[in-house]
Amino acid sequence: MHDIQSQFAKNIIGHAPIQLKEGGVAFAPSNIALCKYWGKRDTALNLPINSSLSISLGSLGTRTELRLLPETSDSPSVYLNGQLQSHDSSFAKRIASFLSLFPQFGKRCFEVRTENNIPTAAGLASSASGFAALVMALDDLAGWGLDKKKLSMLARLGSGSASRSVYDGFVQWHAGSNPDGSDSFAEALSKPWPEFRIGILKISDAPKKVGSRDGMNRTVATSELYKSWPQQAAADLKVIRAAIAERDIQTLGKTAERNALSMHATMLAAWPPLIYFQPETIEQIHKIQRVRSEGLEVYLTIDAGPNIKLLFLEENEAAVAAAFPGLQIILPFG
Ligand code: PMV
Repeated sequence: MHDIQSQFAKNIIGHAPIQLKEGGVAFAPSNIALCKYWGKRDTALNLPINSSLSISLGSLGTRTELRLLPETSDSPSVYLNGQLQSHDSSFAKRIASFLSLFPQFGKRCFEVRTENNIPTAAGLASSASGFAALVMALDDLAGWGLDKKKLSMLARLGSGSASRSVYDGFVQWHAGSNPDGSDSFAEALSKPWPEFRIGILKISDAPKKVGSRDGMNRTVATSELYKSWPQQAAADLKVIRAAIAERDIQTLGKTAERNALSMHATMLAAWPPLIYFQPETIEQIHKIQRVRSEGLEVYLTIDAGPNIKLLFLEENEAAVAAAFPGLQIILPFG
């Protein structure tokens, strides 16, 4: 798996010159999928079964600074929000394994300083922005000058959803169909929608028992309901793209909500079943349905975890904030 990924990275970088600088730095936004990626057709190259579409979270994300130290070492020194991480931590291990895909730096030791400004308490995944920022910082350090499409393909190796975090705004990750992964990359869509809002309804920030990688593999292998997912995701993606182009929150919200709940239905039908909802998640889903039936235009989406993200427009911001105290409201377009 490591060799396959390393070869892929080598093909992407090609003959780009290495003009090493002292260090590299980059910021990448976190993102939330409106049409979810769930299921891999190739686990080594992180190739998805279906295309997905997300919205990046503006200034919320990860800033990563890289330095190549004079000494040699197999393990990078990894800092997360100023704290040195143990080499055994899963965070440091994921970064070390990703950096080892790039043998062109030899045995030089990397210092990696990563800052997440996504409140950790918000229960938002940071692996998407984390791997996107890491790849962009590497590109800066090495002077490869790769375009966004190539950066997106490299970030994909770290985490699928990271392929979308190299862009701002609405982003589509094309699943592609080539076995070598050469047509699986993300691309930015359309113009900004400044009135678009996301609300983070935190239910729990406890680490999940089954991560998305294992969760999707189990779903693909055992869930009967998964068979209809690729077709539904393709149809939902088309509708969501058109709704974004038309600034149609009702169609976008309805389709994104149904898409997320359908993904969870495929997980519920896996064996052993994957239940990411907590009792309070269900309570809040009912509440969202109730306030919507009372006339408030608000929709939800949920990733592989218990937390809920609300989708709405600026005109309803005050009413949504009043209905959901403690909601963290994000303006993806600043
Ligand atoms: O990229 P991963 O492996 O963290 O998987 C992301 C899976 C979902 O968040 C549930 C969906 C998505 O498209 O982001």
